[in-house]
Amino acid sequence: FQPRRLAGKRVLVTAGPTYEAIDPVRGITNLSSGKMGFAIARAAREAGAEVTLVAGPVALPTPRGVTRIDVRSAREMLAATEPAAAQADVFIATAAVADWRPATAADQKIKKDGTGQAPQLAFTENPDILATVAASQRAVSGRLFCVGFAAESHDLAAHARAKRERKRVPLLVGNIGPATFGADDNALLLVDAQGEREIPRGPKLALARALVAEVAKRL
Ligand code: C5P
Repeated sequence: FQPRRLAGKRVLVTAGPTYEAIDPVRGITNLSSGKMGFAIARAAREAGAEVTLVAGPVALPTPRGVTRIDVRSAREMLAATEPAAAQADVFIATAAVADWRPATAADQKIKKDGTGQAPQLAFTENPDILATVAASQRAVSGRLFCVGFAAESHDLAAHARAKRERKRVPLLVGNIGPATFGADDNALLLVDAQGEREIPRGPKLALARALVAEVAKRL
């Protein structure tokens, strides 16, 4: 039984990887499964929220009652997220957004030219969706509560604290390793202005429900 802690609230979640085109048939992406973000969307809905889920390319079913917007690139994710954030009470950024994209995407498939030379790719930085939303008037004035995620290979607590300050979010959630891409289990480290606490290892849906309860307490 989930108490309806978020009844009347609008929750926005980003999830999954982004895909950045090189040409019409190729691109770069990462191994995010989207499972944590989808579990959070489901848990927020169970808690009574109106939930919008902006999803990169993933193979997951939409949680019942959740409005899903499918996107591919970081820029598409930002374009879908910003207007939804303007209406939301909570923004939870779980997406593994590509830090860089190819500076130009070829409009035709790049062909081998027979010389044995590989094409040179130049990259450009993608927008930081969480930092952009967290800097918006709605977030700065406290009407939109923003939550960031961090996946680190080492010194999780220190990196999570630093990331919380850098992104200017009240709550930063660290994925406690080992790397959990695609896994159904994880453990979370919650870092806020008061300090740190752990949500012990368990299925992502259980973690998501615990995180939703923590967020509800802070609204
Ligand atoms: O800086 P880093 O990518 O490690 O930060 C991770 C957090 O920031 C996650 O919450 C992720 O969803 C968000 N993020 C974002 N847009 C980016 C990069 C990260 O929203 N371009």
